[in-house]
Amino acid sequence: MHAPASKPPTLKEALVVAAALAAGAWASRDATPDTADPCGLERLPASAALRWRRPPPRPVVLAPFAANDGFRRRTARAPLLERLGESRVVLTSSNSYSEHELATTLRAYVEDHVPRHASDAAANESYYLFGPQFDAALEALVESYAHPACGGAWCARDAFAASFGLAGARSGVSFHTHGSGFGEVLHGRKRWILYPPGDAAPPGFDPDGPTRRWVDDVLPTLRGADLPAHDCVLGPGELLYFPPLWWHATLNLDDHTVFVSSFASDHAREADSGGDLRPGW
Ligand SMILES: *[C@@H]1O[C@H](CO)[C@@H](O)[C@H](O)[C@H]1NC(C)=O
Repeated sequence: MHAPASKPPTLKEALVVAAALAAGAWASRDATPDTADPCGLERLPASAALRWRRPPPRPVVLAPFAANDGFRRRTARAPLLERLGESRVVLTSSNSYSEHELATTLRAYVEDHVPRHASDAAANESYYLFGPQFDAALEALVESYAHPACGGAWCARDAFAASFGLAGARSGVSFHTHGSGFGEVLHGRKRWILYPPGDAAPPGFDPDGPTRRWVDDVLPTLRGADLPAHDCVLGPGELLYFPPLWWHATLNLDDHTVFVSSFASDHAREADSGGDLRPGW
């Protein structure tokens, strides 16, 4: 599939990219009042992934990651609405099971839905744009997203499926698990709260409770081993690798938070790792 026709960036678009990257650099350098510090994620240059024969056994941040600067320009609020405002989108509920759906247009979602998001609305009753896209123009945009180059068959281009997300401040998805992949924030900042795989869900788990409420009500009561393994704010230029079955909840911190997750096919991952994610990757 073709990437959308691209024209040279205007000065304004270039400034949007520069501002987004500066915000990311700032977010990673300083602890913000919105996150626990330190977040404890290992940080590696993006080129390190080229040597990954097997996927890493723990979450890792690759930075700086600059492969999607064109995608970043196309997904700034104004160009996105200008080109794709009338695209049909299907929103899903932001609870752990994402089982409710609502169809609308991208413009109605961005202009009406996102600003009105209430942080204490039940997660199963608040809607969120994230997932496979059914509109051809929006799908073409998502196809132009560059996933990271890494070693091993598990990381082949066609072993990944990209999901496009756009949401406003205070929104997020409650704790859930799924297969491995990469998460990138193109605009804005996103907080990731991570627990390792385990039979027990994270403390205070409520599949319909919004992440904001968990952060306000549950997190301050936790001590020691109950605390998250990682609690990190990631922004533009930082790419998160998440291993399979890690519990995570997310919280978007900015009004136009745009993100893409590339999910690895479990088949490719297991073929390459022998199904055994031991250390020593
Ligand atoms: C959302 O979840 C709450 C609590 O689990 C429940 O009472 C309510 O009926 C749910 N709403 C929908 C639309 O399913």
